[in-house]
Order: sequence, then C-alpha cells, then structure tokens
Amino acid sequence: MSDEKRETREDSSIKRVISSGNTELDSKMGGGLPVGSLTLIEGASGAGKSVLSQQIIWGSLHEGFTVSLFTSENSVKSLVSQMQSIDLDTIDFLLMGKFRVFPMQLARLGAQAPSNLVRAMTQERSRDILIVDSFTSAIAHASTDLHVLSFFEHCKRLCANGSTIMITLHAHAIQDDLIDALRSMCDAHLLLRSEQDGQKLVKTLQVTKIRGAASVTGAIVGFDVEPGWGMRVIPISKARG
Ligand SMILES: Nc1ncnc2c1ncn2[C@@H]1O[C@H](COP(=O)(O)OP(=O)(O)OP(=O)(O)O)[C@@H](O)[C@H]1O
Ligand SMILES: [Mg+2]
Repeated sequence: MSDEKRETREDSSIKRVISSGNTELDSKMGGGLPVGSLTLIEGASGAGKSVLSQQIIWGSLHEGFTVSLFTSENSVKSLVSQMQSIDLDTIDFLLMGKFRVFPMQLARLGAQAPSNLVRAMTQERSRDILIVDSFTSAIAHASTDLHVLSFFEHCKRLCANGSTIMITLHAHAIQDDLIDALRSMCDAHLLLRSEQDGQKLVKTLQVTKIRGAASVTGAIVGFDVEPGWGMRVIPISKARG
C-alpha cells in the first residue's frame, strides 16, 4: 500500500464515521454519519426510510460495527428477505451476533411504546449502532409531546455515552412545532421525499444537517430503489449541492 493510501485509511478510521456502503451517498453526507450522533430520518410512506436504514445497516456491518435494529415493520425473516431483495445480505452478521433484530409491536403498546423502546435500547447500549424503524408507530393517540421529547432526550443520553442512533419518522405523525424541536435536538437530519422532476416522480434525499461534517448542508441527491441492486443515485435536474 502506498504511503498516501495508508494515510487516507488511517485518517478515515480516526474520523470514525458510519458509511452506507454507497460511495455516492456517503459523499453527500460529508463522508458518512459521525459516530456518537443522533440522526433523524424523516419522510412519508414509501419515501425510502427503511431502505436507507437498511443500506446504512449493511454498510456499517461491513465496516465492523455491531448493530441492533428495533423494527415495528418486520419480523426477522421478512427483514432478511427484504434486504436480500435489494442485494443487502446480512445472514452471516445475524449468525455471528453482529446484527440483532428486535421486532416490536409498538402501535399495540399505546402510550407505553416510547418508554418500552427506551428500555429495549438501553439494554442494547453496548452495541455500536441502534436503529429504530419506525418511531411513527410508537406515537399513539395517547402520547403527549412530553413522551416524544423524553424519548429523544434518552436517545441523546445514550449517544453521549457512545451509542450512534438513527430514528425514522413520518413527519405527519406529529405537530409542526414538535418536529422542529426534534430536528434541532438531532445531530443529523436526513429528509426523504418523492418529488416531481419533469414528467417523472423521483425520490430524493436531502441532507439537511450533519453536525461535525463540513459543507453538506442542503445537499440533495436523487435515488431509485431497484430490485437486486438497492439504492442507486440518479441525476435529477433540480439536484443541487
Ligand atoms: N426489493 C425492492 N425492490 C424494488 N423496490 C423496492 C424494494 N424494496 C423497497 N422498494 C421501494 O423502495 C421505496 C422505499 O421503500 P421503504 O420501505 O424504504 O419506504 P418507507 O419510507 O420506509 O415507507 P413506510 O413509511 O411505509 O415504512 C418504495 O417505493 C418501495 O416500493
Ligand atoms: Mg419503512
């Protein structure tokens, strides 16, 4: 290995960022999500929150991180086959215990859902990365803003102790002023949308902020989800950043 290459590899290990395993996506995120950050992945149904989380799970497992996923959307079996269908195979990591999946029926837990989630996450705090997909199901009619804010505060505390956390959320599930508060509590905010680009409807990922990464604010990237391939970055005419 040349000195220059060795230096680059050493630099990247010092920075300790979470990579999605997709170079183009990572470059839009200033190289990746910083270790110890709390990330909010926001978007409507079908915008790509689960696929993006799965991409990040796959990328981080391959970088040697341990990951625990709390999912309200999948069983272990359906998650594995969903990930396989976009060429993200995680079976070996599951068998080695590097990847743990906790299916949770959050909607059924009602107002108790956020505190149950905190308990489950705290038990897994020795893992490098904790992902909740999706927190929307944990927001029941009975939940107050306080339940939601306190969940995010607990997450911040776990991050202060070294965890890296990602939470997916459907913004429509909560009031505007609460979502603003959550966005500002998070270190990184990724906004997924389906947007009209000429005749076509394209999916976009906007990197609204990543604390600690240089010059990523506002970067928008277009992407497609293709069977047998996964997230593919595509050019969009209105892309900027
Ligand atoms: N294996 C696959 N092959 C092709 N397209 C797929 C595949 N898996 C997911 N998609 C597509 O990727 C897009 C994003 O799906 P994803 O499940 O990530 O959305 P989401 O934001 O998590 O939605 P929800 O809030 O309903 O959970 C959807 O259009 C979906 O149809
Ligand atoms: Mg989803």
